[in-house]
Amino acid sequence: MKFFADTADTAEIRDLAEAGLVDGVTTNPSLIHKSGRDFVEVTREICGIVSGPVSAEVVATEHDQMMREAEVLRKIADNIAIKVPLTIDGLKTCRKLTGDGTMVNVTLCFSANQALLAAKAGATFVSPFVGRHDDVGYPGMELIADIRLIYDNYDFATEILVASVRNPIHVHDAAKLGADVMTAPPAVIRQLVKHPLTDNGLKAFLADWEKTGQKIV
Ligand code: E4P
Repeated sequence: MKFFADTADTAEIRDLAEAGLVDGVTTNPSLIHKSGRDFVEVTREICGIVSGPVSAEVVATEHDQMMREAEVLRKIADNIAIKVPLTIDGLKTCRKLTGDGTMVNVTLCFSANQALLAAKAGATFVSPFVGRHDDVGYPGMELIADIRLIYDNYDFATEILVASVRNPIHVHDAAKLGADVMTAPPAVIRQLVKHPLTDNGLKAFLADWEKTGQKIV
């Protein structure tokens, strides 16, 4: 499963990329707002840090204007994936852009039928939001299982990008279900490394090493 960092924080992206934990990046208007930076400038910087897909979201709601925004965004770098909402206008934009060879991430997916539409429109990625589903009392991972089943039934090439990931259990479940990608905030990616037995084991090894009085270098 590929790991995308769900952030516009370039310091975090750089740090996690050094550990091989960033195969791509997703941003959205809220994350750009949180960064406090210029959209095009920060997106260009991110594209220079990671070679994988970097999602940049259009903010228009009508097809022609989405295409105009996509023209600006896809010129930023070759690894840009245009993010469009799961609406009829978004799907039209998806079909046009992927037909031209541009990667498209269809976002705000909340049902298996919506994911079916994204695949039919030729999406490179579909982003089902698991955390927001959990928030309203529907198990978000059931949606991932349904989409996996449907895509496999018809050999759709669209990659399932599990979004709105809030904790390590989401990551674990997404991997078990065979999701292609998950995107998570850096803090969640960092949580994945944590295990009390690792910490305790390391502490014990270092204490015993100290007793030997030796040095490696
Ligand atoms: C990523 O593409 C999504 O925009 C993001 O994962 C949404 O996460 P949230 O529900 O925590 O805002």
